[in-house]
Amino acid sequence: MTRILLANIDKPEQASIVKYRERGGYKALEKALAMDQAAVIEEVKASGLRGRGGAGFPTGMKWSFVPRNTGKPTYLLCNADESEPGTFKDRILMERDPHMMIEGMAIASYALNCHLAYIYIRGEYEFVANMVQKALDEAYEAKMLGPSVMGKDFALDIFVHLGQGAYICGEETSLIESLEGDRGYPRIKPPFPATHGFLASPTVVNNVETLCALPWIIQNGAAAYAAIGTEKSKGTKLFSVSGHVSKPGVYEVDLGYPLVDFINNEAGGVPNGRKLKAVIPGGSSVPVMTAAECPGVLLDYESLLKAGSMLGSGGMIVLDETTSMPETLSVIADFYAHESCGQCTPCREGTGWAAKILKNIVAGKGKRSDVDLLLKIADMMEGKTICPLADADVMPIRSFVTKFRSEFEALCGDN
Ligand SMILES: Cc1cc2nc3c(=O)[nH]c(=O)nc-3n(C[C@H](O)[C@H](O)[C@H](O)COP(=O)(O)O)c2cc1C
Ligand code: SF4
Repeated sequence: MTRILLANIDKPEQASIVKYRERGGYKALEKALAMDQAAVIEEVKASGLRGRGGAGFPTGMKWSFVPRNTGKPTYLLCNADESEPGTFKDRILMERDPHMMIEGMAIASYALNCHLAYIYIRGEYEFVANMVQKALDEAYEAKMLGPSVMGKDFALDIFVHLGQGAYICGEETSLIESLEGDRGYPRIKPPFPATHGFLASPTVVNNVETLCALPWIIQNGAAAYAAIGTEKSKGTKLFSVSGHVSKPGVYEVDLGYPLVDFINNEAGGVPNGRKLKAVIPGGSSVPVMTAAECPGVLLDYESLLKAGSMLGSGGMIVLDETTSMPETLSVIADFYAHESCGQCTPCREGTGWAAKILKNIVAGKGKRSDVDLLLKIADMMEGKTICPLADADVMPIRSFVTKFRSEFEALCGDN
């Protein structure tokens, strides 16, 4: 198994710039600064790197949509909002190896001709933000940032911005609104951030993990990165695994690694001799998989999609046979109802309505017809809103109810 993102994570004082540089840090930035900006973009394109924030959009292609010479500045925004339930992979990168993210941001900024970048960190990660700020201060002092990055004719400033604890601010246009000082309301697209983003200027929003892959790609070459993984899912991916496993935590695997091996080997298997019941492979917003659906499925974008779920953010939640699926769904639905920004009627009303119905069912006060009503509400929300938060509620509702219907019906009063 290749270790790219977690290669130095357990090494002493890796968060300090001295140790980071001793272990080869900032050499990739030096190499990138000697290349043409367009060549850096081509290298990232050729690596096959796809965004690790959830959607899996090819990173180099996203960068190539950014127009040049518009007369406006270009901005890079690092998305460190990490609020999807089950997801805690970016946190470990920022806490233990923050210079890898800063170096990745500097490489991306150079390629995009961006001179001002922000790291948007979720409000609950204030202590992480302090660690990142310390690393930024070190980077400025060592002249990795500032008016002349590594003595070259390239200026870059990076600022930390702390969010206020809203999940929706992880959605890129909402993040931009929030950074501009407004309420975190997602924007209607188009126009896309590539042309009209932060302060109506060309903007790239990239996830922490995406940016952390860049130093390795530049240092080792696109071909080396593209040699890892599957045909369409290149490189390695972090999975944060929680729930009923013996060794919850963050693990790095080559894309295409078998799901069942991951649960049994990396995560230490289901404890206490219990059986696996279900897996949510990519954060609470992706469809749940039954234990019977897991064998043969690989941890990559295509294989999980074929199996009816998604890779998402890589926030894996493992559920054993003692789990009540209606109770689990009720907790998930509560989250989305609470986090809906309220702009779109189907999402504002639908998420709240579904959460109330589920609470009733779990309390034994539901009717069998409520189970069908949940599916109807899901149909009414799907694809009818400004941003995908409503869909993020639809996917668990539909998959839990259709795959574990008898559990929901068994709780209904008229059963
Ligand atoms: C409701 C919602 C929440 C999101 N939360 C995050 C998040 O916490 N972190 C993140 O990187 N992307 C999140 N995204 C995805 C971003 O909109 C965006 O696609 C991503 O930051 C792009 O970076 P990437 O191309 O490097 O993946 C979220 C999307 C939605 C719809
Ligand atoms: S789908 Fe929900 S969260 Fe997204 S913009 Fe509409 S109301 Fe807000």
